Amino acid sequence: MATKASAKNFLEVISNRRTIYALSNKQILPNAQLVQLIQSAVREAPSAFNVQSSRVVVILGRVHENYWNEIVPQALLKAAGEKAVEASAGKLKAFAAGYGTALFFEDTKLIKGQQEAYPTYAPNFPVWSDQGSGMAQIYTWALLEAEGYGVNVQHYGNLTASTLKEKLNLPESYDLKAEMVFGYPEAPAGEKTYVPDHERVICFGP
Ligand SMILES: Cc1cc2nc3c(=O)[nH]c(=O)nc-3n(C[C@H](O)[C@H](O)[C@H](O)COP(=O)(O)O)c2cc1C
Repeated sequence: MATKASAKNFLEVISNRRTIYALSNKQILPNAQLVQLIQSAVREAPSAFNVQSSRVVVILGRVHENYWNEIVPQALLKAAGEKAVEASAGKLKAFAAGYGTALFFEDTKLIKGQQEAYPTYAPNFPVWSDQGSGMAQIYTWALLEAEGYGVNVQHYGNLTASTLKEKLNLPESYDLKAEMVFGYPEAPAGEKTYVPDHERVICFGP
């Protein structure tokens, strides 16, 4: 059962979750434990009508490096030219230097199934699918951070998904939503400013 102590711990975990770009590939958890951690986060994330459409592919070592050193630069070159690759080279190298990447997909086959089963809400299901992916991502991000990883989230999926799916033999129905890079945090997160709470959350009543 939840307690005041668990609320305090949860707030501490979510307050510590930040975007960290300076990563190395120093190991933190054994790989099996790392994958289990991500499985737990994704399992507990809520989804519309409990569809559980998030699918996560964890890439480590050579596969992770190949993504950031080869697949993304080649896709960028094709889509935006040499200058775009040069401009992103430092960032991509920093992602490759991390320990791994969790690729967050949504299985669109399940979303289409929902649209057919509940036509009244058909336009909403893709939106809820995106939201569900975000929920799986934030649980994963926070849990990784709580275990001592540095994490950042990237979005090159529109350029790289087809190559990735072919290379990793993933179903055609998988839609890549985000790439979560993680590793040993070599430097803290940058400064962050906050909009005042009272501008973002207000209350009427009772
Ligand atoms: C939906 C979403 C998309 C984001 N996309 C990117 C991205 O493509 N690249 C990136 O470096 N950070 C991305 N971020 C990270 C945000 O820039 C970051 O969360 C924000 O500046 C607040 O910093 P914090 O994560 O340290 O709290 C994204 C965050 C969210 C929630």
